Amino acid sequence: MAENIKENIQSLRTHRNAVILVHNYAPGDVQDIGDFVGDSLELARKAAATDADVIVFCGVHFMAETAAILSPDKTVLMPDREAGCPMANMATPRELAEYRRKYPDASVVTYVNSSAEIKAMSDICCTSANAVDIVGSFPENRDIIFVPDRNLGAYVEQRLGRKLILWPGYCPTHHRILLEQLRETREQHPGAPVIVHPECRPEIIAEADAVGSTSQILRYCRETTASEIIVGTEIGILHRLEKENPGKTFYPASPIMDCPNMKLNTLEKVMWVLEDMAPVISLDEETAEKARIPIERMLEQS
Ligand code: 13P
Ligand code: SF4
Repeated sequence: MAENIKENIQSLRTHRNAVILVHNYAPGDVQDIGDFVGDSLELARKAAATDADVIVFCGVHFMAETAAILSPDKTVLMPDREAGCPMANMATPRELAEYRRKYPDASVVTYVNSSAEIKAMSDICCTSANAVDIVGSFPENRDIIFVPDRNLGAYVEQRLGRKLILWPGYCPTHHRILLEQLRETREQHPGAPVIVHPECRPEIIAEADAVGSTSQILRYCRETTASEIIVGTEIGILHRLEKENPGKTFYPASPIMDCPNMKLNTLEKVMWVLEDMAPVISLDEETAEKARIPIERMLEQS
């Protein structure tokens, strides 16, 4: 059954001249049929550079939307349009307009985990891979409104020794890991280094040996001489970690760190979207044009 689905995907991919982009958290069998698997920054770059006619985006909505903004002449499909990101929904244009009124001289740095409307109101975007460098590129005395992840924002504050105006959003999946649980996992695997995603709570980040985006976590795990590593991010990343590092053992910092939205991507749905050429991710042109500017600024700077 799965083999038939994979064969169908293969012939549809050729027939449609499609590229399948997959986030590091997607289910393992979906990662395995991807043309490219990566973090948000890498996937945005691939989406901007592809010469395929169709992009099948196996991630969550804001990622597919970013691909559609960067490649307006391509057809961007999502296996399941219900795959949203709760953190992206925690910032609304009305609230951001209020912040802008309250801090008229501040610049707005927006994490890509946000809607196109929010990006359209921003000065520059960032991902977890480049947030420190992007914020650091602003003059020291400039006020920065950092939207919408307060944990990534607090991490940037700590790295740069500089205060930001933090939006109160967060990722429910990364919030699930608590300090007691991380310490318990550490006790079970003494000596194993801990690497976490910057969407984790500040006390988790303070306890970790390293912090990085999903692809930075993959790189750290590839390069470290440690043979056992504790990983504090969405558990979908374990598939790639185990596949790429057969001699190493990976322990999730918490087994309950799963993102239900990422798990909506399935092989069947990838086949169906290529058959039906729907659902297509589309945006109104004016919003897309305004949102493209801060995304392109980010890509130029990183
Ligand atoms: P990365 O940019 O590190 O891949 O993270 C995206 C994300 O949604 C993390 O929860
Ligand atoms: Fe959004 Fe968190 Fe899922 Fe990432 S893991 S897509 S931030 S809900």
